[in-house]
Amino acid sequence: MHRIILSIILILLILGSVIAGPEDWRIALCISEDPQHQMNVSWRTESQMNAPLVQVAQNLPQVMFYEQSVDIAAQTEIVLRSDSTRVYVYSAKMTGLIPSTAYAYRVGSEDEWSEWFVFETANSTEAPFRFLYLGDPQNGLLSHVSRAIRAGYGEAPDAAFLTIAGDLVSVPGIDQQWEDLFHAGSWVFATIPLVPVMGNHAYYIDGEWSDEHSSYWQPHFTLPENGLATLPETNYYFHYQGMLFVVLNGSEQLDEQAIWLDEILGQVEAKWLIVSMHQPLYSTGRGRDGTKRRDAFLSVIDKHEVDLVLQGHDHTFGRTYPLRKGKRVKGRQKGTVYINSVSGSKQYELEPAIEDVFEVTGENQQFYHVIDVQPSKLILSSYTVDGELRDEIIIKPSRNR
Ligand SMILES: [Fe+2]
Ligand SMILES: [Fe+2]
Repeated sequence: MHRIILSIILILLILGSVIAGPEDWRIALCISEDPQHQMNVSWRTESQMNAPLVQVAQNLPQVMFYEQSVDIAAQTEIVLRSDSTRVYVYSAKMTGLIPSTAYAYRVGSEDEWSEWFVFETANSTEAPFRFLYLGDPQNGLLSHVSRAIRAGYGEAPDAAFLTIAGDLVSVPGIDQQWEDLFHAGSWVFATIPLVPVMGNHAYYIDGEWSDEHSSYWQPHFTLPENGLATLPETNYYFHYQGMLFVVLNGSEQLDEQAIWLDEILGQVEAKWLIVSMHQPLYSTGRGRDGTKRRDAFLSVIDKHEVDLVLQGHDHTFGRTYPLRKGKRVKGRQKGTVYINSVSGSKQYELEPAIEDVFEVTGENQQFYHVIDVQPSKLILSSYTVDGELRDEIIIKPSRNR
């Protein structure tokens, strides 16, 4: 009798993995280095997909809009999980798109397709736009992070992209954590381009901290490779309607990235400069301090008058005064605003001795943030997950740009 029940459970489990539908494919629409003309996408299955494809067409109202669709062959990568089972990961780049245009795309093969997801390419002008930012999801991925993602989407369904400032999951080798994160993100992750930032937990392998990040992080995303060649898809940048957005990897090669950052910020013409890295320059968590990152990046951030730095890691909320050389600026002097946030259930206590740097703080709550980018001002709005506006700051552009 025991054996029969076990056999039935086994058959159900096997059937479950075979019939896992598109809702389990972890479809991630990702930002590219050229969001006016290109968007990237990744997804994965447990049994190999025959001739995986992305189809993309302009999002027209006619039912037969897909007659005009273009097929893009996806690349397949086989990822071995720690239990030796295989996962098939697909990535594709939708190139040659027209700026400021709505597109519908779907992923799959002739055997099975996802639904059509709709996104819009970036405008070629400095037209106003807004985007979403979340701090560490990491824990309570399905139970808690889901409400942060949904509340953020409800607040800004037209968000140009969603950036997540690291520690997307706690232990990247545990596949269930990714499963939970992608169920929490669901079709929102396939609709709003993701801008994921690598956190220190990507380096947490088999219960120990490693010098190399987990091999399970990158297969979930297809990101720009225009940063340091030694940090593909974890150090990158893109332009979006007058803004330069730079992603740093706060865990390794900090000095090399500081030199690179200085070059990138010096070369580009953009009204707004936004940097994101997981570990904060100024800590809000009790007993924590970001000395390493300050030593590496503060002088570069000050030199180029970066407008905003988006961070995570401290599992609390804090938004600084505009700062320069670690001090609150006076009068109309330009300073950089730094923010730490958390979207998941893991929470730390606030460090009490930070009032001279942080104007607003919060603990034991989940947050989401909307950044409204306009030609003459940038508005950073911070919400708790119940939709209450906790903080709003207006940032003026540098007069040197
Ligand atoms: Fe974290
Ligand atoms: Fe962290």
